[in-house]
Parts: sequence; structure tokens; C-alpha cells
Amino acid sequence: MKTICLIPGDGIGQEVIPAATQALQALKLDLTFVEAEAGFDCFQRCGEALPAATLEKVRKSDAALFGATSSPSGGMKGYRSPILALRRELNLYANLRPVLSLPGDCSRPGIDLLIVRENSEGLYSGREWREGDTAIAERVITRAASERIVRVACEQALRRAESRGMLPTLTVVHKANVLKVSDGLFRECAMRVAQEYPQIAVREMLVDAAAMKLVKSPQSFDVLVTTNLFGDILSDEASALVGGLGVAPSANVGQGTPVFEPVHGSAPDIAGQGIANPVGAMLSCVMMLEALSEVQAARVLSEAVYNTLANGIRTPDLGGSATTGEFTRAVCQNIAHVESDVKKH
Ligand code: NAI
Ligand code: MG
Repeated sequence: MKTICLIPGDGIGQEVIPAATQALQALKLDLTFVEAEAGFDCFQRCGEALPAATLEKVRKSDAALFGATSSPSGGMKGYRSPILALRRELNLYANLRPVLSLPGDCSRPGIDLLIVRENSEGLYSGREWREGDTAIAERVITRAASERIVRVACEQALRRAESRGMLPTLTVVHKANVLKVSDGLFRECAMRVAQEYPQIAVREMLVDAAAMKLVKSPQSFDVLVTTNLFGDILSDEASALVGGLGVAPSANVGQGTPVFEPVHGSAPDIAGQGIANPVGAMLSCVMMLEALSEVQAARVLSEAVYNTLANGIRTPDLGGSATTGEFTRAVCQNIAHVESDVKKH
């Protein structure tokens, strides 16, 4: 039996996590769910954005499913984004963000790429301060973190190549022409580690050119590896190629309990309306099931989500009119169809 810690968080996190949980329950696996709280509402209620009890529950679970939390721009005393804190506490140094074409005209065809984002340092090190009218943020790049993220990317490239029967390609994305010292070190580490993988074709690309190329010819990418901020931005950009933030899944992996989360935030503009797209959360569950070695269930869930979209059932962000609940019920029905098809063959 596996234990999954559910952390819905704020805004539409409270809508997409229950929806994804319903889909998981429809798979009838031997899973136990434990709920935990985190986020801005939690902070306002109990003074903590990530209570110790939540961290403890995650540590005791086999995996966690995180919705989204709100972080006020400009900050608030004592508040720090719980997902950043979780990544740090559990040493989840790699953020895997796959981008895959979906059925329907809101997605461009032929895209199957993976952005591997460094998750522990870079401009998100939290080392930022004011000196009068000057604000300074430290962009920390270390050899250890750079080498380990590139190793994760290379291993992912090999795994993907094996399951897809293609040659692995790694694109190292940086800005070492301007950030000569920090990205210079990242680039040096990346090239050195990549040499350990002679099967992988390695190329490098400046981040601005990569941003352009992702829009122009996304089909030419396989695995991209980059530093924290660049990975954050490029993955939101890439999600737009296949339907937008509502469909983008991710995994935070490293040392501790892996945490799976849709890429999007708490979406206060649509929260509470019952129209949030649960696809990003459901595809995050697919990644979670794969990590838990529930490979067959992962396949059933992803097929059920794809079939639902292919049947034209979509939430408003994808141009449809389905509510979160209607979409979720259709996915659960499709799970039953896919399972009975599997049994027949
Ligand atoms: P957002 O991702 O919440 O929303 C951006 C746009 O995409 C909005 O128009 C929203 O309606 C739409 N959208 C996002 N997810 C959707 C879904 N599942 N279905 C349909 N439409 C969807 O980003 P935004 O507005 O920049 O940030 C809102 C809050 O979320 C902020 O407080 C921010 O700090 C937080 N945030 C939290 C993250 C996390 O917890 N991992 C990640 C990103 C933002
Ligand atoms: Mg982001």
C-alpha cells in the first residue's frame, strides 16, 4: 500500500487536487490519501505557510500531490512560498516539466519535450536585499548542483530514448555570453557531465534564442536542461504550445519524498468558479504513478485524459464549456472504458 499526501493549497489548488484525486480513486489502486495544509490561507489562519505537521506528513508518504499556493507579489513578513520551502526541506533539486502535444486544435502537433529545471539555487536562492534605492539578488550557481541536474537530464534523455526508440538529444540552455561567471560555471559543468554520456547528442543554446526556437520549432527539442529561473519561464512558455498552463504537469524529485504539481499557480481570477482545468494536476498524477512503478495505471490515466480531450470535452481555458466536475466525471468514465479495452486485448 502506498500513501499519497495531498496538499491542495490555495485558489484553484482546492479544485484541481480533489479532481485529480477522484481520477486516482477511479483507478482502484491500493492507495491511501492523507490531507495536509499549506499556503496563504493557512498562513493567515495559523501563522505558518508550511506547518511542521505538513512537512512531517509529506516525509512519511511515498509521494505528495501539491496544488498551488498564492504568494503576494512584493512579499509579506514571515511568508515564504511553501513549494520553495518544500523543495528545499526535502532536497528536491530537480524539476521535471514535460510538454507533450494534446488532442485538439489548442495544441500544436508533434511536440514531445522535457524541460529539466534546476530547482535549488540560481536566482531563487532567497538571497535578496535592499540597500536604500538599490535592490540586489544573488544568483548562486554551484558545481555540485549544476553537475547533479545535468546528470538527471542525461538519465531522463536515455530513458526517453529507450521508450521512444529515438536518439537522445540534450540542449543545454544558458546565458554564459553575459553571465560569464555564473552561467559560465553551469555551462562548464554541463559539458563535462554530458561527456560521460557519449550516446547523447549535446548542443547548447543561449536562453533568448531557446525562447524563440521553442515557439518556432518546438518539435526539434528533446530534453532541455537549464538553471532555475530560465527553466521556470521557458516551461510556462512551452506549455502555451500545447494548450497553456492548465495542462502542464511537473515533478519535483531528488532526495526526499517526490512532490508532483501542476505548473500553474492558484489562479485567483477563476478560483471558486468550478472551471479550473484539472489536466495539469491529472498528468502530474501520471508522473507520480510512474514514479511509484504503477506503470499500467499511469498509462490508463493518461489515455483517459487524452480520450476525454479528443472527445471534445474541455474546460473554458481550452475553448470548451465543461466544468471541472464534468471534465473529471468524463475522465473517470474513460478510465473504466480504457480498462475494459485493456482486458479485452
Ligand atoms: P497562474 O498560473 O495562477 O495563472 C495564470 C493564468 O492562467 C490565469 O489567467 C489563470 O486563470 C490561468 N490558469 C492557470 N491555471 C489554470 C487552470 N488549471 N485552468 C484554467 N486556467 C488556468 O499564475 P499567476 O496569475 O501569475 O499567479 C497567481 C498566484 O499563484 C500568485 O499568487 C502566484 O504567486 C501563485 N503561483 C503559485 C505557484 C505554485 O504554487 N507552484 C506557481 C505559480 C504561481
Ligand atoms: Mg512558474
